[in-house]
Parts: sequence; C-alpha cells; structure tokens
Amino acid sequence: MIVIKSEWEIERMKEAGRILKEVLRVLEKEIRPGIKKRELDRIAEKEIRRRGGKPSFKGYMGYPASICVSVDEVVIHGIPDGTILHEGEIVGIDLGVEFKGYHADAARTYPVGKVDKRKLNLIKVAEGAFFAALEFAREGMRIGDISHAIESYAKKHGCDVVRMFTGHGIGKKLHEDPPVPNFGKPGTGPRLRQGMTLAIETMITEGSGDVEILKDGWTVVTKDRKLSAHYENTIVITDGEPEILTL
Ligand code: MF3
Ligand code: CO
Repeated sequence: MIVIKSEWEIERMKEAGRILKEVLRVLEKEIRPGIKKRELDRIAEKEIRRRGGKPSFKGYMGYPASICVSVDEVVIHGIPDGTILHEGEIVGIDLGVEFKGYHADAARTYPVGKVDKRKLNLIKVAEGAFFAALEFAREGMRIGDISHAIESYAKKHGCDVVRMFTGHGIGKKLHEDPPVPNFGKPGTGPRLRQGMTLAIETMITEGSGDVEILKDGWTVVTKDRKLSAHYENTIVITDGEPEILTL
C-alpha cells in the first residue's frame, strides 16, 4: 500500500532531510585516504544524534552501523569496519535519518584523493541517471517511467544497472511501497500522486549489473568485481516540480 503523506508529515520528513544534509556535509569533509570507515560511522552517528535525529539504519533488520560505506566493487550495504579508505578508491556513503518518527534516506559516491577518469565518470553517470529520472517524478507519471529513465541513461553511457535492489517509498518506515527499480518499461507501474515520498536510488555498474551478497549477509558486490556507483535522494511528488529533501 502506498501511503500519501499529509503536509505535516512531509514537514517532518523535511526536518529529517535537513539533518541528513548537514551530516553529509560533515562526512564529505572527512573523506580522505587513511580515514577508517568505522570513524566515518562514528562521526555520522554523533552528528545525527546531536541534531535530535536517530540513525535509521542502525539495528534495521540487524544492520550493525549508522551508515553504509561501499568501496569500488561494493554496490551497497558495505559495513563500516576498521579498514581505511585508500587514495584512488570511490566510496559510496549511504545514510538514513529518522526525525519524530519520519525518515529521510540519501547516498552519494565520492572520490578518495586523486581518482582516475573512469571512476569519476561512473560517479557522474550515477548522478546523471538520478536527474534523468527526476524529470518523470511528476503527478500522473508512473514508477516505470522513472525506472526506464534510469536504465536508459545508464545504457546510453555504456553502463548497466543493478536489478536485485531497488529504490523505495519512504516515510514512517525506511522502506515502504512502492519499489522503485533501476529498470523498467515506460507507462507501467503505480501512478505518481501528490504527497508520495520516494527514495530514488541509482545503482550503476561499469560491467554487468549482476550482484552477489558476501558472507557477512550485507555487503553487495558486483559479480564481475567491476566498479559500481550509488546515488540517492528522498523526494516528494507535488503538483509541480518534485521537491528533493536531501539535496
Ligand atoms: N539506502 C539503503 C536502503 O534504503 C540503505 C539500507 S541499509 C540498512 O535500502 F541497513 F538499513 F538496511
Ligand atoms: Co534507500
């Protein structure tokens, strides 16, 4: 069931989004060769709680941290541990914030130090695919229009998309209906209505979009171990332009 949000519910999600944006800005400055992934997680949790929020991911289905830190061939759900970031890697930071019972969710992929062009390009494609999809995030359009826009943007740039994981509705729960796949047919799926809140997340791969989950039960990697990039924002469908709560 897709939950349409009231004005005041959207207001709370905006607050969650505001906290999330501020925390992302702090984290962004900490990304450098040598920093421990666990240190980024510690900073994120501290900065979220300091602002009166709660980390949405911590304890969600048993997830052990406040953020996901996903390096190179790790697509999503990398668990921050004692290992460090290295020059030349690209790192996905995924972050959820709960405020007064409502969630916001966003992800970015950052270069660590000096990074080669191929990797920078993949980051650009993940971002570009999100904004291509945003064009279709309007009342009367369908989820399939968003999905198709992501897929066709990725393909046009010589990349593939992940099919095993999707974006999602979001609100009182981190994951709500409808799923928002990174692939699909235009004119299919649920129709978009004012007051729907969606986390659109592009998961783009330089090789095949096939993925597998590592033995820790969380870390999602490309099967071919080629690079992947992730970009996500929480948005609201309005009667006009979509509103982005996490940018
Ligand atoms: N942005 C991801 C998602 O919405 C992160 C979830 S990590 C989890 O699916 F630990 F919370 F599951
Ligand atoms: Co998400």
